[in-house]
Amino acid sequence: MEEECQEIINVTDLTKTFQSQTVVKGITFSLYPGDVFGLIGPNGAGKTTTLRILATVLKKDSGDVKIDNVPLTYTAPYDNLRKIRQLVGFMPDFLGLYDDLLVKEYLDFFARAFFIDESLRPFVIDEALETAGITELKEKEIEKLSRGMKQRLLLARVLIHNPKILLLDEPAAGLDPRARVELRDIIKDLRKKGKTIIISSHILEDIEDFCNRIGIIAKGCLIKFQDKEMLTKETINYVLYRISLLDKKEEARTFLSSQKQVKNLIWDNEDLSFEFHGSDNEASQLLKDLINQDFNIVSYSKGKPNLENVYMKYTYIKSA
Ligand SMILES: Nc1ncnc2c1ncn2[C@@H]1O[C@H](COP(=O)(O)OP(=O)(O)O)[C@@H](O)[C@H]1O
Ligand SMILES: [Mg+2]
Repeated sequence: MEEECQEIINVTDLTKTFQSQTVVKGITFSLYPGDVFGLIGPNGAGKTTTLRILATVLKKDSGDVKIDNVPLTYTAPYDNLRKIRQLVGFMPDFLGLYDDLLVKEYLDFFARAFFIDESLRPFVIDEALETAGITELKEKEIEKLSRGMKQRLLLARVLIHNPKILLLDEPAAGLDPRARVELRDIIKDLRKKGKTIIISSHILEDIEDFCNRIGIIAKGCLIKFQDKEMLTKETINYVLYRISLLDKKEEARTFLSSQKQVKNLIWDNEDLSFEFHGSDNEASQLLKDLINQDFNIVSYSKGKPNLENVYMKYTYIKSA
């Protein structure tokens, strides 16, 4: 369905240099309405710089950017910049909140900044609070909020002008596990509402959970940009297996490690886990062999390689 729609974001050959260091090197990608694009990569790879350019808070050096058919240009009278700012909501990776305000005052301030009519502002604020799941915090002082709640307030702020596109820079950074799970649900909800989202994150589990497109960025280059399912399929040519045994675990490990299709055999709690580089027939034969050897197998299960396996294959971290 999405392939029939018109692209909502086009980025072609985007480049940015600070002093003499080129930190975004010819990035090209495009997204369709409703896409959730996860941008992953090591620190300093150029994620924030890319998002800031799309959010129009930083100027690009070269390349073309089109957002909902509006070209990103910086020429007076800046109509295009104004249009793009209406289209995007940018959540930066730091909390630039005014601590002495109440939550509702803070949101009202941003609603005014977006020229939202006074009569509409209460509705807009309530809706943003509801989507961010913090309706009950409306009368609270910002300085009394936890980090997770502040993060949600930032998200509410980004939603205030009802942008079609959300640019979220490491929204889960510094959140505890519960706050992270809750943020995940909010992002899924925003996806259901039809928002197009670009999200940078170090947390691969999150990205894998709610993104349909993945980009891997390293040293300013988008080394991979693909549909999530395709990326895993193309990159990983093995199946993960996990065996749970009743006893004779060490013997089973020795037996498995002698099999040519078995690689990276490890203990995963009390179970054995490994990559199986072979066909389903061969995997089935391996199970028969194990049974014939009198191993008492509780379970023999096939798992899907995940984004972490893909990421490790494409990036390697050189120690400084
Ligand atoms: N305003 C700036 N001036 C100079 N260098 C910068 C500036 N902003 C970012 N950089 C550099 O650009 C590179 C990419 O940074 P960034 O986009 O923040 O990466 P990421 O978000 O992937 O960690 C880093 O080497 C960083 O030091
Ligand atoms: Mg960053």
